[in-house]
Order: sequence, then structure tokens, then C-alpha cells
Amino acid sequence: MSKKVLIASIIAAFGLTGTVTAAELNVYSARHYQTDEELYGNFTKQTGIKINRIEAKEDELLERIRNEGANSPADIFVTVDASRLAKADELGIFRPVKSAALEARIPAHLRAPNWFSYSTRARVIVYNPDMVKAEQVQTYEQLADPALKGQVCTRSGSHPYNLSLGAAMIKHNGAEATENWARGIVANFARAPKGGDTDQIRAVAAGECGVAIANSYYLARLMNSDKREDQAVVAKIKAVWPNQATWGTHINVSGAGMLEHAPNKEAAVKFLEYLASDQAQEYFANGNNEWPAVPSVKVDNPALKKLGEFKADTLPIGELADTVAEAQRIFDRAGYR
Ligand SMILES: [Fe+2]
Repeated sequence: MSKKVLIASIIAAFGLTGTVTAAELNVYSARHYQTDEELYGNFTKQTGIKINRIEAKEDELLERIRNEGANSPADIFVTVDASRLAKADELGIFRPVKSAALEARIPAHLRAPNWFSYSTRARVIVYNPDMVKAEQVQTYEQLADPALKGQVCTRSGSHPYNLSLGAAMIKHNGAEATENWARGIVANFARAPKGGDTDQIRAVAAGECGVAIANSYYLARLMNSDKREDQAVVAKIKAVWPNQATWGTHINVSGAGMLEHAPNKEAAVKFLEYLASDQAQEYFANGNNEWPAVPSVKVDNPALKKLGEFKADTLPIGELADTVAEAQRIFDRAGYR
């Protein structure tokens, strides 16, 4: 190598290093994990790209992205729930990403044209065996059965988790059946909806309700907790994978996408691809007791292991966007608030 070429390659190498260390990525996240530091730190370690994280509630971030418009520094938006991702998508904030790596890693039914799912959670049924029989609570549909009058607890019907479930039910059972279902649920309430999913699980354990719906990670969190009061809750309840004989248990996701005005597009794609890597999948999913979206990645989570395998709904998660507004109208009419 001549001196000139050597110097040129040193400059090239130095220049490259300089660019990489100077590179930054701005992530707006509505999700916070115990494992965030490792998740983000590992990306910086691998790529030299520094991550600036802004964490806030979903609506605040969306508002901010819209107000910032074309000048937004945000590259990536991370959030939970398919209906929220659909809502963000409807606002036109995402820019589609074409990535062979992401297509290879994330199953088609967990991808939407403008965003990707990185973890999955199931909407499960939790019941108190002293109050209802197992065979009464094997499906979502059964929760509307008059036999369960005064037994059912759920969080608000307008919460995205329930709207996404409603959107899936419309797809599988039709709008009319879903409206009848919502009316049946309301007629069966043990109490007016209040609190989050964990509150419903606690109410089942306390005997205030015979049966409730909750996301799997809330249940898993209680199962993995070493607090005595959480263990007492777990001892009182049983969990069901709903709809195993029909369309499968409703699945929801956490996801992320690149933003329309992302100033660091290359880094953004790298980050989206990184999130599908083995290690990132473990951090991302296990930090919240969820399942990795990439099927080959297995997490070592005692509660999830104990809950075991189940038949999940295979409805493409992006399609929930079609019926989520209808689910809201149906729930409103049925008084499921
Ligand atoms: Fe949640």
C-alpha cells in the first residue's frame, strides 16, 4: 500500500468512524421496560449510534409528533396495542420500511405495511373456581351468557385492549354478533368497569367477580412476583386460553415504525432491524413478560413456561385497524364504556 493510499484509507476509516459515532437516533416511546437500558445500550454498542429516548404517554407523543410536523426530530415511534398502532398509522405519521431482514424475522401476520410487531401478548380469561365452573368460561362469547349474570369484570370497553378484542370479534363473528356479545357482557357485569387489567384479576381473587379478561403479561407479572399478596391472588384464580376450539385466543402486540419525517432514516431502519435480533427480542419481550414476535426466539420466563402453549388467533394484526372504529361504535351503543 502506497503512503497516499494508506493515508486515504486512514481518512476513510476515520471519517467512517466519525460519522458512526456522530450518528444519533431519536426514539419516541410509549413503552417502558425493566430491560430498557440493555435494549437501547446494546444497539449503541453494536452500531455506535446514540439513542435519544423520549418516553411519554401515547397521546402526548402523537400530539408532539403532529405538532412538530416536518421538523420533528423523531425517527421511531414505539407503542403498545394494535388499535393504537392503527390510530397512529391513520394519522399518517409512519413511513413504510422495506427490509428483507424484517420480513424474514417477523411473521407476516405480525406485520402491517407501515409498522412491525416486536412482541405479542394474549387476552386471557381469569376466573375464580369457587364462583364459576371451568366449562362456563372457555370462550369470550360465553362471558355474555346470562348464566354468568353478576359475575363479569373488565376494564373500560373504550380501552384499546378491549377495542382490539372487539375488532377481532367483528372479523370472526360479524358486527351483529359482536353487538349482542357486548350487550351480554354489560348485562353480566359484577360492577361498572374500573381500573386496569390487574385490578380485574385481583377482584376475581377477592371474589368480587367470578370471571374477568386480562392481558397475559399482567397475569404473568403476578405469577412471577415474590410478593406474598400477589402469590395469594395467583393461588385463588385459574386462567383459560379462550376460544381454543374456534378462532383461537386473541393476540395483541407491541410495535414500532419509522416516522414520515425521520431525519435519521438509515439509523431508523437499523434500529427496527435490531429490535428483531435475538438479543433485542429477549429484552423487548421478556422485560414485560411477553412473547417475542420472532418465533425462533425463546425466552426463559417461569410464568410463561407455566402458562404453556396455546392456539393463538392468526388474524393478521394489521387488519384489526379495519374494524376498530366499528368496535368502538358497537361498544358505545351497547353501553360498554
Ligand atoms: Fe398494559
